[in-house]
Amino acid sequence: GGELRTWAGELNPVQSPVFMKTPRGPEPKVIGATPLLTSRESLEALHAAVKAYDHGRGVWPTMRVAERIEHVERFLVAMRAQRTAVVNLLMWEIGKTQPDSEKEFDRTIDLIVETIRALKELDRTSSRFVQEQGVMAQIRRAPIGVALCMGPYNYPLNETFSTLFPALLMGNAVVFKPAKFGVLLIRPLLEAFRDCFPPGVINIIYGRGRETVGALMESGLVDIFAFIGTNRGASELKRMHPRPHRLKAVLGLDAKNPAIILEDADLENTVKECITGTLSFNGQRCTALKLLMVHRSIVGPFLERFTAAVERLKPGMPWEPGVALTPLPEPGKAAYLQGLVDDAVAKGARVVNREGGRTNHSFYSPAVVYPVTGEMRLASEEQFGPVIPVMVFDHDEEVIRFVVDSHFGQQLSLFGRDSARIGRFIDAFANQVGRINLNCQCQRGPDTFPFNGRKDSAEGTLSVADALRVFSIRTLVAAKTT
Ligand code: G3H
Repeated sequence: GGELRTWAGELNPVQSPVFMKTPRGPEPKVIGATPLLTSRESLEALHAAVKAYDHGRGVWPTMRVAERIEHVERFLVAMRAQRTAVVNLLMWEIGKTQPDSEKEFDRTIDLIVETIRALKELDRTSSRFVQEQGVMAQIRRAPIGVALCMGPYNYPLNETFSTLFPALLMGNAVVFKPAKFGVLLIRPLLEAFRDCFPPGVINIIYGRGRETVGALMESGLVDIFAFIGTNRGASELKRMHPRPHRLKAVLGLDAKNPAIILEDADLENTVKECITGTLSFNGQRCTALKLLMVHRSIVGPFLERFTAAVERLKPGMPWEPGVALTPLPEPGKAAYLQGLVDDAVAKGARVVNREGGRTNHSFYSPAVVYPVTGEMRLASEEQFGPVIPVMVFDHDEEVIRFVVDSHFGQQLSLFGRDSARIGRFIDAFANQVGRINLNCQCQRGPDTFPFNGRKDSAEGTLSVADALRVFSIRTLVAAKTT
């Protein structure tokens, strides 16, 4: 908020993953550029946030909740007016299909609206007085300080804003760094940020992680770190903070969500859910199904229907009607995925669908790999792309062992009809993952539900109401009544 700087420094070109059909064939296209901040410049942004927060005495943290909400509502009006621009950039920068890009935009607006609703409720309940054992108390919610918010490239708008807005609404000052890809789409919103918030309350930095975020962490001035991305990135950044015990973190990290398909599963529904579960946005969702574990007795019919459904998915450009599979934004991603497939094939698996695993520039056609076994990289490594490993199992205990031994614990899906058996699985998994999905794919939504995970998959809980709690602390004001 407050000012938009004109950039005279080094620029970082942004290349579209969406290959163009030109007379000479497909070619990548530079679609824009972002500033490359130095560490000194990123620290200036941080110092602006520290000044705006002013140890909790700044204009923003001391503002009445209702007034803060008004600022955010003004931002929402301006944001709605930028829908077309942002949706177009989502398609161009990360290759998300038009319906999914529109959904991401609308869902983000809804998330902010719901967060405002939840804040009103929180404010109402937390201003109540409670009396117990001769003590009268009021529990107040206070902001934490300076928040650093970073989201991933697969939801560059939604997931960044899912931490940014709760942080703001609770009275924190924020520095946020747009995702690695999906950076240009913040541009249409910059004026709205400037016009709707007091100076220094929100600061946006662009550039390479090391120079920018690294410097912020090393300064020790970040009070809360909200990050949705890889475990490696999160640990490296957290380690840089000189006083890690003073840094609060809320993290959404890697996952390897399995679908467990029992022999009495409704195959039609299972295939439908597993298709969207594994391949929506080309499998680039933290909640995607990343391993299908199928009971041996039904693996034949399941694979037949599943591969047929994969073969029906239409590849193309994100804005073309009916397209389900699109180019991948990460340079080198297709080669990485092929490496995973090669490793599995060298150890005895094969690609079982027609056209599976073909690379065409930044496009990689989905590969269904079967049978995957424990020693293959695909059994444990998060592919985050259109490769679908299929494992077989004979006994329930094998599946339970697999889930318990996994480093990850975000979600899983169970497909089957025997409620007693499903109940036993639920009991076994309740302390292993953040969410168990019955006869449906894994997913984060509805966004008002808690979004978390166990083991290496998360730290803290997001969602609408949970995020408000994450970005605040409770202070008790107490007095004796007797
Ligand atoms: O990438 C991780 C997202 O939180 C997944 O959200 O399940 O709504 O696609 P989603």
